[in-house]
Amino acid sequence: MSAAFQALKKNLQGEPKTWLVTGCAGFIGSNLLEALLALDQTVIGLDNFSTGKQKNLDEVQTLVSPQQWARFQFVEGDIRDPETCQSICRDVDYVLHQAALGSVPRSIEDPITSNASNVTGQLNMLVAAKDNGVKRLVYAASSSTYGDHPGLPKIEDRIGKPLSPYAVTKYVNELYADVFARTYGLDSVGLRYFNVFGPRQDPDGAYAAVIPKWVAAMLRKDTIYINGTGETSRDFCYVQNVVQANLLAATSAHPEAGNQVYNVAVNARTNLLELFELLRSELVARHPHLETFKPVHRDFRKGDVLHSQADVSKANRLIGYQATHSIAQGLAEAIGWYEADLG
Ligand SMILES: NC(=O)c1ccc[n+]([C@@H]2O[C@H](COP(=O)([O-])OP(=O)(O)OC[C@H]3O[C@@H](n4cnc5c(N)ncnc54)[C@H](O)[C@@H]3O)[C@@H](O)[C@H]2O)c1
Repeated sequence: MSAAFQALKKNLQGEPKTWLVTGCAGFIGSNLLEALLALDQTVIGLDNFSTGKQKNLDEVQTLVSPQQWARFQFVEGDIRDPETCQSICRDVDYVLHQAALGSVPRSIEDPITSNASNVTGQLNMLVAAKDNGVKRLVYAASSSTYGDHPGLPKIEDRIGKPLSPYAVTKYVNELYADVFARTYGLDSVGLRYFNVFGPRQDPDGAYAAVIPKWVAAMLRKDTIYINGTGETSRDFCYVQNVVQANLLAATSAHPEAGNQVYNVAVNARTNLLELFELLRSELVARHPHLETFKPVHRDFRKGDVLHSQADVSKANRLIGYQATHSIAQGLAEAIGWYEADLG
């Protein structure tokens, strides 16, 4: 049993709770759903399938028992609709709010749609959580909030100016959560995820994240583009670390755990050239064409930050978070899923 499961069991003191996961058909949301059902919790899930997929829910169903699956209720709906948010928050103990439109380039192309789901949607969820007496709402914040602040590793209270509309939406999420704590006493926690990867992350589409996109390109013999020299670095975070952080953040009884923002990653940095080699070495034995495979360099992408690395000591101190997977351990665990999904 993982550390997250043990800690959650301790925090819940054996008493199952009702959870709401918004964005449950997406990558991170479906991993949260799987973990909660495996812990015999009751889960309500909401998604509008804008980027999420029915096949993610179907896969979770195959990974839990029929009794556990029976404790899941799915609602197809949109967080931009306040009434939907009110109805799904009824009798809920904890909310894990993941629904949003990800991707910096998507927000640059269409800031209005990103704002509607990410800002208006979150505001609707905060109001509904407050009105329905939810114990704590944990929401997906983002490392993009560090913007142009040059400090490394990133520490929660030292942020710069946002570099994209997406980063603005994620920063506004933190501001609203803070104001809801002060004015209405709503308990919430923001988790600033840093480049999450793992099973059920979409490899396709213009806004795909680098790891699934590159694995797909390697297996399909497509071109891999590196934006810039390849020195751009990230704190790549396996999804099981994110699941752990959510479950601990929701249930931690530490008196200072609530109304905080926490970094969630590993406190390590991998640049794009190193990432390319890591992926190639995981796959080359079964895909010999990768022996001579090389990336193509092109211009640096607007809105991207150059380096990112998380100081995770605050999450460690206040909610007991400890990353269980380095990038290499996460890739070793996820690579089989990618191959099966793309095969
Ligand atoms: N993946 C990462 O590296 C990363 C990094 C930082 C922050 N985040 C945040 O984590 C959360 C989850 O991201 P993900 O990577 O799982 O993305 P994802 O696109 O796989 O999941 C988002 C889910 O939200 C749903 N959704 C979007 N708008 C909605 C709306 N208006 N109403 C109802 N459902 C809606 C989508 O259909 C999808 O299922 C997002 O808030 C994202 O901004 C992700």
